[in-house]
Amino acid sequence: MLDMTVKLAGVALKDPVVVASGTFGFGREYSQFYDLGELGGICAKGLTLHPRNGNPAPRIAETPMGILNSVGLENPGVDAFIAEELPFLRQFDTKVIANISGNTPEEYGIMCEKLSAAGVDMIEVNISCPNVKAGGMAYGTRPDLAAEVTETAKKNAGNVPVMVKLSPNVTDITEIAKAAEGAGADALSLINTIRGMRIDVDTRRPVLKMNTGGLSGPAVLPVAVRMVWEVSQAVSLPILGMGGVAKGEDAAQLMLAGATAVAVGTAMFADPYAPLKVRDGLADIAERQGLSAVSELTGGAKPW
Ligand SMILES: Cc1cc2nc3c(=O)[nH]c(=O)nc-3n(C[C@H](O)[C@H](O)[C@H](O)COP(=O)(O)O)c2cc1C
Repeated sequence: MLDMTVKLAGVALKDPVVVASGTFGFGREYSQFYDLGELGGICAKGLTLHPRNGNPAPRIAETPMGILNSVGLENPGVDAFIAEELPFLRQFDTKVIANISGNTPEEYGIMCEKLSAAGVDMIEVNISCPNVKAGGMAYGTRPDLAAEVTETAKKNAGNVPVMVKLSPNVTDITEIAKAAEGAGADALSLINTIRGMRIDVDTRRPVLKMNTGGLSGPAVLPVAVRMVWEVSQAVSLPILGMGGVAKGEDAAQLMLAGATAVAVGTAMFADPYAPLKVRDGLADIAERQGLSAVSELTGGAKPW
């Protein structure tokens, strides 16, 4: 029997496949397809201290092998999540990871305090959203600011592990990873979306109302694998790898590069069952290779 369990910052997951923040809402729609308890974990939609409407439409566009989005953190706010969405998610036998974005380090702190008291399993600190003006990616592109947000989050999160979500929109992602580790992060997740743009050649208008957006989907997988590999060598924190995962082989690549667990996002827009298929595909690969535990894949790449 293959052991599919993994531990991410002390949190036991029944298997290494979770769903990525912002691509699964709070699970209500997907729960019509399958028991959410089949998932290793759920990264809930990104929360802010106060409710947000997000950016004006159009805010999603297709691209070759992916999508561009400029949703801009539309969400009901952290209090509504705790009152209405967390009890719903708690019905399922899976881990709940709250994802937060703030305009100031203090806002991150207040949200961590509330979510820790509410009893989420982990807090994913988003310092990498390319679609909001304040906060978001600004924190993820400067080591000093990344450290400040991480430190404030840790101070206010009590016993709940803090996972810092890194931006790929930097020259050297290991600098930010090291800053987060130095400030006490328990885990890292990567990658968020890569800034991109698409233009309608007849109207000459950008296809997204915000002009630019974040690229996700299969096109970004090789970037994610490279960045997970670089970060895993630079820090000793566990990594949740993501970016373009659509099948077991994609997840296995991220694990071999150094990820402890993986998240599936954009692939679910075409196939809601994608995370379950990724899990089964991963198990097939581990079995084919004669492993006794899927965790043996982590960090197993053999660079030339
Ligand atoms: C529509 C959409 C909304 C997203 N919202 C969030 C969010 O609220 N917080 C966050 O940390 N990441 C967010 N992301 C980024 C994803 O969690 C993930 O890091 C990225 O899409 C790469 O994975 P994928 O290629 O499997 O989608 C969003 C992505 C998409 C496509």
